[in-house]
Amino acid sequence: MKIGIIGAGRMAQAVGLLATRAGHDVMLSNSRGPETIPHVGQQIGCEVGTVNDVAAFGDMIVAAIHLQMSAAIPAAPLTGKIVLNPQNYFPHFGPVQELDSGALTTAEVLARLLPGAKVVKALNSILVEDVVSDARPTGAKDRRALPIAGDDADAKAAVATVLDQIGYDSVNAGGLADGWRFERRRPVYCIPLDRVRLEERLAATTRDSFVPDGNWRFDRGIRA
Ligand SMILES: NC(=O)c1ccc[n+]([C@@H]2O[C@H](COP(=O)([O-])OP(=O)(O)OC[C@H]3O[C@@H](n4cnc5c(N)ncnc54)[C@H](OP(=O)(O)O)[C@@H]3O)[C@@H](O)[C@H]2O)c1
Repeated sequence: MKIGIIGAGRMAQAVGLLATRAGHDVMLSNSRGPETIPHVGQQIGCEVGTVNDVAAFGDMIVAAIHLQMSAAIPAAPLTGKIVLNPQNYFPHFGPVQELDSGALTTAEVLARLLPGAKVVKALNSILVEDVVSDARPTGAKDRRALPIAGDDADAKAAVATVLDQIGYDSVNAGGLADGWRFERRRPVYCIPLDRVRLEERLAATTRDSFVPDGNWRFDRGIRA
């Protein structure tokens, strides 16, 4: 599959590396232009391009830029395409009233900007430094599961397949409106859990379930 990544930073590089290792064709991009990141493409073994190049290239697109930058993602070329939303909300990049109030999830904020795209929340609930090192082959006993959410069942299935190919099980946490269950400061957020434990914790997460920021330092889940 052709996977286009908007962003060329830490998350983009980690996901790009796993995707190329899994045999996918990958293109990364940034705001400054491909001439500023040839070394990144060489390290990962992927193409680099402009954001518009990536939008045209990818069958699946990863929005690996900070949520508040998402207006820079071109909506029209992504019509009908699957767009992964690994984005978490950090208010210091700019407050988003609907997120502060809980009226929308981060996935819904992205979906509102990309009305024709099939947005799937995925890869937000893992620290970037764990993305490559925690990947395991299908069936490994200590394989980690990641939560996903989206309104399009086929898109979610396609994302689950790619996650499987790059080293992760997945757990369907519902629609875009349910994405709050694994956003920042929720009990499963960035905790390494297998499929069964992730399902249990997601089911036990209610609207008022919060943990302290940085909880993953104390709860290493299946990596303890
Ligand atoms: N870091 C983590 O542990 C982690 C974990 C899970 C999810 N995430 C999420 O992943 C996303 C990326 O985080 P990160 O840690 O990879 O950040 P990062 O290392 O700061 O990378 C951000 C990238 O976005 C690019 N960028 C900024 N504006 C852009 C635009 N308008 N068009 C195209 N590219 C643009 C930047 O390149 P230029 O400035 O050169 O354009 C940079 O390559 C965030 O939404 C974050 O919440 C991060």
